[in-house]
Amino acid sequence: MTTSIKLSNVYKIFGARPKGRALTMAKTGVGKDDVQLATDHVIGLHDVSFEVADGEVFVIMGLSGSGKSTAVRCVNRLHEVTDGSVMVDGVEVTELKKKELEAFRRDKIGMVFQHFALFPHCTVVDNVSYGLKVRGITTGERRKRAYEALEMVGLERYGQSYPRQLSGGMQQRVGLARALAADLDILLMDEAFSALDPLIRRQMQDELLSMQDEILHKTILFITHDLNEALRVGDRVCIMKDGAVVQIGTPEEILRDPSSAYVAEFVKDVDQGRVLHVGAVMVPPRPIRVSTPVSGVQAEIGAGEFRFCIDAGDHPVGLVSSEQLGLVVQQPVESVMSTDICTVAEGTPLVDIYEIISTGQPVAVVDDRGRLIGQVNALDLLAELGEIESKASQIQAAEASSVGGRS
Ligand SMILES: Nc1ncnc2c1ncn2[C@@H]1O[C@H](COP(=O)(O)OP(=O)(O)O)[C@@H](O)[C@H]1O
Ligand SMILES: [Mg+2]
Repeated sequence: MTTSIKLSNVYKIFGARPKGRALTMAKTGVGKDDVQLATDHVIGLHDVSFEVADGEVFVIMGLSGSGKSTAVRCVNRLHEVTDGSVMVDGVEVTELKKKELEAFRRDKIGMVFQHFALFPHCTVVDNVSYGLKVRGITTGERRKRAYEALEMVGLERYGQSYPRQLSGGMQQRVGLARALAADLDILLMDEAFSALDPLIRRQMQDELLSMQDEILHKTILFITHDLNEALRVGDRVCIMKDGAVVQIGTPEEILRDPSSAYVAEFVKDVDQGRVLHVGAVMVPPRPIRVSTPVSGVQAEIGAGEFRFCIDAGDHPVGLVSSEQLGLVVQQPVESVMSTDICTVAEGTPLVDIYEIISTGQPVAVVDDRGRLIGQVNALDLLAELGEIESKASQIQAAEASSVGGRS
């Protein structure tokens, strides 16, 4: 995979003399608050480096003021960086001349903001096609592409409406459609969903992800202050604090291995069942062929153990436990197994199997051809969730005691 966006050792200092003493102090490792006290300059970004792969959804997450917006604004150079390098598709953005920069912004990068930034006096379709007009695309082609984009976000019937006639969620969709119509390689989304109600927000997250998988395949830099959202949406997540990067990892890496108490605190708030997928907790199945005689497997199934039974095509068709195999019979397993089983795909979020699991029954995990590839046992799942909780608490406790020890 090729790299689409690469920030290397980027500093952004706000103030009258950004390249002066504030930068020198920041570079020697002095933190944001101390630099501000000493120099009256604000550190926006402190030695930030990350790479976003082509086609990746990369999320920047952190508390308000941690530098997220500053980071995205350096990518399309709405901010001039104070120091460091910003490469986009092999081009050093900090060195672009005025005309090159205009072309770069117009042809390469789309942006969606938290506040919809729609023109109130223009219809929805005119709002969506605005960016294309600026690029000199003909009226007919503009309308066609605008309606295609509106269709993607489910608003094709509202082309002639005005923004004020739409709900907040719909207006946000129009903002997204505008960026999609432009069909640029890179999409910057700065808190694009943050103003939406939780339910609508989850819908938008799901829609974005399915569009991304099915048609878009764009490089998306997605900003949020909500770790739940970050972990649901991101292929990888970059967590920021005080202008600096504190951890970069896949959602699972962040959940299982938070790098500091700051990250652990967020992790404890996460709805793990919506972030973790069945694939993360499944164990290899030890299936039994339905034609096997009961007597042939009785001895190898431990107390309380469940085994899925598979047909000749490896599809799970039943479930047996040691109790069901209590009587010695020569009949095939098929005649005693229970056929009331639950099968799911590897990518299913854990919340979707909580109900089944709470009955104590395992869940069969199948591939896209319905063949058994894994099994989720109730105890394994609970252990996994408990492990994440306790690890986060341990990291917090360890950091608290080492801070206490030093003072
Ligand atoms: N134009 C600006 N002038 C001065 N300080 C700024 C400016 N923009 C951002 N900052 C400061 O930079 C820091 C990072 O801000 P920002 O990137 O907007 O954070 P976030 O998007 O994570 O909430 C904050 O301390 C903020 O006050
Ligand atoms: Mg911001």
